[in-house]
Amino acid sequence: MLERLVDITDNALAPDNLYEDLSFPDAGGDIPYIYANMVCTIDGKTLLGPRGSSAKGLGSNVDQLLMRRIQNCSEAAIVGASTLRAGHVIYPPHLIRAVVTRSGEIPWNNRFFTDRPEKAIVFAPMSAMEEIFPFLPKGVRMSQVGEEDMDVDVEMIARILRAQFNIRRLLLEGGAILNGHFFRAGLVREFFLTLAPKLKGGGESPGLMDGKGFERNGFMELTLLSLYRAGSELYARYSVGSVKNDD
Ligand SMILES: NC(=O)c1ccc[n+]([C@@H]2O[C@H](COP(=O)([O-])OP(=O)(O)OC[C@H]3O[C@@H](n4cnc5c(N)ncnc54)[C@H](OP(=O)(O)O)[C@@H]3O)[C@@H](O)[C@H]2O)c1
Repeated sequence: MLERLVDITDNALAPDNLYEDLSFPDAGGDIPYIYANMVCTIDGKTLLGPRGSSAKGLGSNVDQLLMRRIQNCSEAAIVGASTLRAGHVIYPPHLIRAVVTRSGEIPWNNRFFTDRPEKAIVFAPMSAMEEIFPFLPKGVRMSQVGEEDMDVDVEMIARILRAQFNIRRLLLEGGAILNGHFFRAGLVREFFLTLAPKLKGGGESPGLMDGKGFERNGFMELTLLSLYRAGSELYARYSVGSVKNDD
């Protein structure tokens, strides 16, 4: 099913067992080792439908399988609230699952919460508390980060996950807005990316990382660690470098 094109990691498994036993270094300091996983079209779109719809249909069954394996090797996953509003997010039972919101508009009937409420954490500023408290399901934990109606500091989230929940391996699962916060803060160490052999086009579809880009000619440089394929779909794993500027 899977064919190895490049692999400079210490992966000793057969191609079909890709990502089955991922191990990650300790991030050092007081935050988890953070890695993102996304699927996009060749033109970098992360949805086939309009913004806010589910990403269903974008990646193949192999992409879904690899996503599950990456989740299985993680201690926690984090998503933006719009990703929960787009449809059910279903995780392996062991996984701590965190969501970030500023508005407090959370779909509490999402399986993200109902499957394992005691594994769920909501990160929000104080201003969202009034919205959240009356609906907070039993078992779901709430962590306040910041006072005002402002974006929460994602580095603070990472520190809380390490210090209070002992998370050492954190999977960032999008969407594009939350990714933007984590990448701009320089917190993401690796990027797992499925390139689906599809073109979508259109200016409105979200990309991999939305919000403010890097200043002027600034960019983040990535190094390819491995590349596999199944048919025309590609599965890349990159290490993420620091921000550079070609000015
Ligand atoms: N192709 C893929 O791999 C993939 C992966 C994930 C998601 N998706 C798709 O992407 C779409 C969602 O992506 P998106 O970029 O629109 O949204 P998103 O990143 O999922 O969520 C954005 C929302 O998260 C909250 N948020 C993010 N960063 C925050 C911060 N620092 N502080 C406070 N709140 C923060 C805010 O919630 P409030 O609005 O509640 O304030 C914000 O509006 C969905 O359609 C989903 O299906 C695709």
